[in-house]
Amino acid sequence: MCGIIGYTGKKEAKPVLIEGLKRLEYRGYDSAGIAVQGNGNGIVCHKSLGKIADLQNKINGIKINGTCGIAHTRWATHGKPAETNAHPHHDSKKSVYLVHNGIIENYRILKKELNKQGCEFYSETDSEILAHLIAKLFNGNLTEAVRQAVERVEGTFALAVIHRELPDQIVVARRGSPLILGVGENEYLAASDAEALIRHTNEVIHLRDNEIAALNPDNFSIITTGAKKISRSSEIIEIKQRKAELNGYPYFTLKEIYEQPDAVTNAMRGRLDVGEGMPKLGGLENVLPDLIKSKHLILTACGTSFYAALIGKYIFEELTECDVQVELASEFCYRKLRFSPDTFLLALSQSGETADTKAAMQEAKRKGARLIGMVNVVESSMTQMTEAGIFNYAGPEIGVASTKIFTSQLTILALLALLIGRHQKLSLMNGVKSLKAMRELPKQVESILAGSQRIEAIAKKYFRFKNWLYIGRKYNYPIALEGALKLKEISYIHAEGYPAGEMKHGPIALINPKMPTVAIVPQDDMRDKMISNIMEIKSRQGPVIAIITERDEEIKTLADDYIEIPFTLDFLNPILTVIPCQLLAYYCALFLNRDIDKPRNLAKSVTVE
Ligand code: M6R
Repeated sequence: MCGIIGYTGKKEAKPVLIEGLKRLEYRGYDSAGIAVQGNGNGIVCHKSLGKIADLQNKINGIKINGTCGIAHTRWATHGKPAETNAHPHHDSKKSVYLVHNGIIENYRILKKELNKQGCEFYSETDSEILAHLIAKLFNGNLTEAVRQAVERVEGTFALAVIHRELPDQIVVARRGSPLILGVGENEYLAASDAEALIRHTNEVIHLRDNEIAALNPDNFSIITTGAKKISRSSEIIEIKQRKAELNGYPYFTLKEIYEQPDAVTNAMRGRLDVGEGMPKLGGLENVLPDLIKSKHLILTACGTSFYAALIGKYIFEELTECDVQVELASEFCYRKLRFSPDTFLLALSQSGETADTKAAMQEAKRKGARLIGMVNVVESSMTQMTEAGIFNYAGPEIGVASTKIFTSQLTILALLALLIGRHQKLSLMNGVKSLKAMRELPKQVESILAGSQRIEAIAKKYFRFKNWLYIGRKYNYPIALEGALKLKEISYIHAEGYPAGEMKHGPIALINPKMPTVAIVPQDDMRDKMISNIMEIKSRQGPVIAIITERDEEIKTLADDYIEIPFTLDFLNPILTVIPCQLLAYYCALFLNRDIDKPRNLAKSVTVE
């Protein structure tokens, strides 16, 4: 979360910083700010609540001249989104300005101490404390002041710091939050993500945890937080640009929902041997024999990726002999999980940067598990952390709500389960039948999308209802959770997902004519039990929107509204049933005039624990 960009060189810093911020906006967008060394006139700083465009409007026409500066786009952790809490932050004398990504866990202790020394604080942030601390420690050498300051810090940080007395220098440091350095012609940049460097250079220096770098237009140096000098050469990398083109769609979220036939195709591309009923997953080749033998697999992830993992557990139970456990990454480190030494941990993540998932991976490794990953962003941190893995190849996902990655993850989980299953006891016949059904999925997703008008009409009927329920069983229980999450995060309508069997244990008390229930009830071995749940809701005057397999006439007569999906095998149903859920959420959000691609309080990449 939060995006950092810094520049020192010969060019005007302001346009470089603003352009970089725009590329980092996916990391947070509640406020932004910029600080530039003003050619011997001290540091000029401007901040604004809202998005980068708001900052741009604010500073439009204001002369901010200078060739060295730092900038930040924020996702609030400590202190509400407000101009005073926006970065860059400064000390009382406005000598030091800094931008920070991460969390200073011991900031209260540091704040008390600095308070006693006469520091007055203007913001509610943990980051401001660091500006005061560095200013106190400054004795002509900014690198040393930053080094001493971060030695006192508990928590995570990526930092970029400037000092009024050093008009060309930026000092950066990192621990647990990403930061990369860019090398140009008589210029250096620092950014949270290589993409922010794309217009300037593809020559980079990787800064590692607990390292501090001093950047000047003509040189750089790196030391560790323990004051050891480090020599590191630069590398040329390929920086991929998130192709942020709407191609005629009003929102990236809708575009990405419509990209799902391709996302599912790409997840399977070159990975099916239908004749042998055997998928191929090249990225796992090295670990596959051990994985098949081990039979112990833990899936971990957060948010939508976690719901994909939950479905994965049901699929593995059906097709393999493995013991599969699913753990929320954000809880992983607080558990006393015991697992055998041959256990594999599969982390699922669109971004490959989610801090909770990375922490779970580190903890699992510490306990002896072997790490494999499923990520969409190829050059992400998780790719470096794992022994082997599978890429989604779904293309960039820009909308904060994850859509196409979810269907891609489910497709790959099905392939992985079939692969392991075929090496265990799954028959050739079942393997062939499954892969044949999977081959049909892209066309089936396309046919659901073609019927979006019906879903739009249903959303129009219900979008003013304030509370919704989503219910499903077995493979479609996690779809109920995901459907509710999509509705919550992009429309801000309150929604809960439940395993339908739990309704009678409490939630049914909520049912009334103003509480719609989305019942996910495709033709599978749970259908009859789901029909009983629908009847129970109808007997209490609750409106029911049913997601059904086409031509299920019985449910059509029971439900108030229905959305049809094509027939597929039970374990593949979630890849189809989730599509109407995504579209329902999208249209409700549209009718409510929400900021669909960038919903309030959220960020695309969640890099704080
Ligand atoms: O990048 P990741 O898949 O690791 O992200 C995990 C969650 O933060 C993410 O799925 C989040 O829940 C989305 N907003 C869901 O739409």
